[in-house]
Amino acid sequence: MTKTIRKAVFPVAGLGTRFLPATKAVPKEMLTVVDRPALQYVVDEAKAAGIEHFVFVTGRGKAIIEDHFDINFELNATLESRNKTEALESVNRDLPKAGATSFTRQQAPLGLGHAVWCARDIIGDEPFAVLLPDMLMKHHTPCLKSMVDAYAKTGGNVLSLEACDPAQTSSYGIVALGDTLDEDVHQIKGMVEKPKPAEAPSNLFISGRYILQPEIFDLLETQERGAGNEIQLTDSMLRLVETSPFYGVRFRGTTFDTGTKLGFLQANIAYGQERTDIHPNIKSELAALLR
Ligand code: G1P
Repeated sequence: MTKTIRKAVFPVAGLGTRFLPATKAVPKEMLTVVDRPALQYVVDEAKAAGIEHFVFVTGRGKAIIEDHFDINFELNATLESRNKTEALESVNRDLPKAGATSFTRQQAPLGLGHAVWCARDIIGDEPFAVLLPDMLMKHHTPCLKSMVDAYAKTGGNVLSLEACDPAQTSSYGIVALGDTLDEDVHQIKGMVEKPKPAEAPSNLFISGRYILQPEIFDLLETQERGAGNEIQLTDSMLRLVETSPFYGVRFRGTTFDTGTKLGFLQANIAYGQERTDIHPNIKSELAALLR
């Protein structure tokens, strides 16, 4: 029996320098995709995978993330008094249960590995998920859900994988595969953070969803800086491979890297074109614009 994945970590401390000036005063995770913060889509993905507790590793200037996941009494009262039922529903629909969120701060930008390590006391001694909020992953089966399903059979650690252009390996964590267990589930025997194409073991990259055993925290504690002079999660995972198995689940949907301007625009169009509530002919309206 595998232990249930109840908690998820969302590293949201990044400065968003690729999105200035928009992110000068607004956290990048709060930028709007159609009509909801980008972060909300990722939290919803976690919810759909059965996550019960949401751990946000924040930083300075990120306080409105906490406000977004709280009740705004004044707003609710105003909407109620004006009979704005739909608007009221839209603000309350996404609320996590009371006590189901935790916020901790990564005090200095030392890397993803360090951000995850900051959540160690809140996670405790149980396996957990990590979702990188830059990556919006669109599919009828949410990415983390398919990973949780695979984990129920394999146990251990599970990463989401996608193929990248072989020339782009130095932007990602790249894995070396072992045996194939199922069509889209493979053993992972090695990994390297941001390798040059000539040194990359494959073109399969870790696309931003993780299920990890709590032993990772002890490794992160002593992890030396790696690529980009940052404490890398991939480096500690590589050490964990020696004692705890890793599996990769190929994600077959569409991923939008909303950390880039192009990815952000594409996400708005992809999610927007389904929203017939905005306009009955939303698809053709958008298509006309792109023609
Ligand atoms: C991080 C991870 C990397 C992963 C990538 C996915 O890198 O370190 O392994 O492939 O996210 O987006 P970053 O994008 O923070 O440089």
